[in-house]
Amino acid sequence: MVAPLKVGIAGLGTVGASVVRLIEGQREALALRSGRPIEVVAVTARSRAKDRGLDLRKVRWVASPERLAADPEIDVFVELMGGAGDPAHGAVVAALKAGKAVVTANKALLARHGVALAALAEKQGVALNFEAAVCGGIPVIKTLREGLAGNAITRIYGILNGTCNYILSKMEQDKRSFDDCLKEAQRLGYAEADPSFDIDGHDTAQKLSILASLTFGTRLDEQAVYVEGIRSITTADLAAADELGYRIKLLGVAVRTDKGIEQRVHPTMVPKDSAIAQVMGVTNAVTIDADGMAPVTLVGPGAGGLATASSVVSDIADVARGVRIPPFGRPQGKLTISRKAPMQRHEGGYYIRLLAVDKPGTAATIARRLAQQSISLESIVQRHRGPAGGADPRRQGPVPVILITYATTEDAVRKALAAVKRDRVISGAPQLIRIEKN
Ligand SMILES: NC(=O)c1ccc[n+]([C@@H]2O[C@H](COP(=O)([O-])OP(=O)(O)OC[C@H]3O[C@@H](n4cnc5c(N)ncnc54)[C@H](OP(=O)(O)O)[C@@H]3O)[C@@H](O)[C@H]2O)c1
Repeated sequence: MVAPLKVGIAGLGTVGASVVRLIEGQREALALRSGRPIEVVAVTARSRAKDRGLDLRKVRWVASPERLAADPEIDVFVELMGGAGDPAHGAVVAALKAGKAVVTANKALLARHGVALAALAEKQGVALNFEAAVCGGIPVIKTLREGLAGNAITRIYGILNGTCNYILSKMEQDKRSFDDCLKEAQRLGYAEADPSFDIDGHDTAQKLSILASLTFGTRLDEQAVYVEGIRSITTADLAAADELGYRIKLLGVAVRTDKGIEQRVHPTMVPKDSAIAQVMGVTNAVTIDADGMAPVTLVGPGAGGLATASSVVSDIADVARGVRIPPFGRPQGKLTISRKAPMQRHEGGYYIRLLAVDKPGTAATIARRLAQQSISLESIVQRHRGPAGGADPRRQGPVPVILITYATTEDAVRKALAAVKRDRVISGAPQLIRIEKN
């Protein structure tokens, strides 16, 4: 009889409680698949008294995460509390120092301390697994670390935040405002009371920084990610995108360019026939461009107790099997410092929505400013003008104009728009959305 793998879990919330249930529910199958039984022997959380709907009578309660981390009876420390600081950070360090494998779902911890934790895990010769930290139930870390170990990957991009995708999908389908759809997402529990971390793109940026490190073998650097959120997206943009054959998604994109590695998070127009454009609601998706084959797209639940627990349990099963792969796919000392490609040098197509002032020469001025920056246009759409200026029929409102450019640089677009603004031929700030081709 092989000795069971003894698991200690810190955090019994949405994910932790589901992990306990899943290990219990899949006891036999897990033992067969992992080669040994897996047993939860000790747990901790903030409140011992809370009813979690779990039978913990045979499981030892430990007073604190730090104590559980150093508990001599456990083989693997599972951190499901969250947060980049203590107790998560201190407890994970303590567990690694005590020579225990660690499994965590904590993207914030990895984005902040991933490099140091990976070095410590390697020094101690133990696993540090974090499948659940990116895209909850989608096995994207395993795909990058193991499934595509033999491929050179040129680009990875995805919908990494279900809240944003839910809001954008609802705005498009129901033609409702951003504020309205955000409130609905909050009512349904898809968005936090303070939604800024999600809708301003920071959650996506943390996940992207982890994926970029695995993809390109670079040292994780959250600060290298350019971030824009979805607050500025209007139903007018979604309708225009639809007419032009695109959808708007908040994407995290990491791509190798000749100027370095570009890591960016921003609302993005994606062709309607692309795999990623089909992903609606809270679902997540990641597309990987690897050499020698067509793009691989993984689609699935990005959050939720059971979905996330499935990734955590898969990581625990790997520990039971004795699988130990360097956390970021290669020895920590071999991760390179990535050369950050400056956003001004980003190249691609752009969607630009302007409010053109109704006076002679406006169109010619805009065209001249674009031409001065060598920007060519793929299409121009002029909308119905805005409301006329009061009772005077001679005073007309500005005219919405939508431009789609061929590939150009961010710098050129910004310079052209700044010049157009100085020329006073547009009203308000132009809307700018980058286009990502499949
Ligand atoms: N929820 C998801 O769908 C999802 C998806 C992917 C990744 N994740 C990640 O999974 C982790 C857990 O998320 P969650 O949604 O399960 O969180 P949660 O429901 O808020 O649960 C957090 C748990 O940690 C415990 N805890 C918090 N602070 C503690 C402390 N100082 N000492 C001891 N225990 C403490 C809480 O104890 P009490 O119960 O006693 O308060 C609770 O049981 C996070 O890193 C999150 O980013 C979650």
